[in-house]
Amino acid sequence: MNKGKKRRIAILTGGGDCPGINAVIRAITKKAILEHDMEIIGIKDGYEGLIDNQYRTLNFDDVSGILTLGGTILGTSKKANPFQYAVNEGDGDKLKFEDLSAVVLKNIEALKIECLVCIGGDGTLWISNRFHKLGVPIIGVPKTIDNDIKGTDITFGFDSAVNIATEAIDRIHTTAQSHHRIMLVEVMGHKAGWIALHSGIAGGGDVILIPEIPYHSEKIVDYVLQRRKTGRRFSIIAVAEGSKPVGGEVVIKRIVKDSSDPIRLGGISFVLGEELGKMSGLETRSVVLGHLQRGGTPTPFDRVLATRLGSKAVDLIMEKNYGKMVSVRGDHLEDFPLEEVATGPRLIPADYELIKAAREIGVCFGD
Ligand code: F6P
Repeated sequence: MNKGKKRRIAILTGGGDCPGINAVIRAITKKAILEHDMEIIGIKDGYEGLIDNQYRTLNFDDVSGILTLGGTILGTSKKANPFQYAVNEGDGDKLKFEDLSAVVLKNIEALKIECLVCIGGDGTLWISNRFHKLGVPIIGVPKTIDNDIKGTDITFGFDSAVNIATEAIDRIHTTAQSHHRIMLVEVMGHKAGWIALHSGIAGGGDVILIPEIPYHSEKIVDYVLQRRKTGRRFSIIAVAEGSKPVGGEVVIKRIVKDSSDPIRLGGISFVLGEELGKMSGLETRSVVLGHLQRGGTPTPFDRVLATRLGSKAVDLIMEKNYGKMVSVRGDHLEDFPLEEVATGPRLIPADYELIKAAREIGVCFGD
């Protein structure tokens, strides 16, 4: 605690950014200042800032006007896992991983905060849970376009990403139609298919491929050729980056050596596009939306959700309900143990109603 002085909390944003993070920072800061006269410290670049001791004070004016701003005003890092931090060994590019958690604990102690609010995805929340177990009072706020965090029905950023992906599929539709082509639109989502499923349905995709349902290429080709027989000479395939064939593997785009979670997915649409083209004899094109899905302004839905979650996070701080993540259950906000968040991604369940609805209107999942 910051004895004799104002109560103080800190906020950090870790992992991949997404639209809506600034709306959370704004909500926490404004409410903590207006309702509880607190001081807010913004940690720079996620856990990197707690290793290097980089932070700034966040005043009311600092968070005014950032509601609609994409990204994070605090910066973020996808590499800074203090428990497994990559450092160069000697002059070459050989890396070794070190445990710098003691440095982080010392720096947190010096900040004299009563709580650290961690806005992050499953990786950041996993790290945060470990620090909570080491005695740091922590509140988590779930954030990711992937919508794959356990314990919450939805994450902010997802709606914005689905909007961008849907608009892309809409645009691809017209050119696919003119040229009678198979067009693949590859979307993000890591190991989960939420973005592909929702944007695929919203954009009227004919085939939707998600990691949760491995596909058979022959089944996709049969489906596309069948469509042609009924006069539909084009087909749109919404494909999640983590999709894979039955018995096959995901396509890896790159390995980020200095990350404790080094694998980056991407490129399945090109591999599969080639294969479908050869098998069907039809012209095929692929588009990878990539980081476009993470950039830019949040949708109104995400702005509202982010504001609600930020406000709830301050309530948990006041209740000293630490070691929890704010979460959405139906219409309500709840708290969920960080420990349970850290058990892996939330995938689409096999009996998910939207998969059933899509199948019932003729969408092919390649299975
Ligand atoms: O988790 C968010 C996400 O955008 C995933 O959908 C994607 O697989 C990954 O991050 C991309 O990571 P990077 O920003 O390191 O390329």
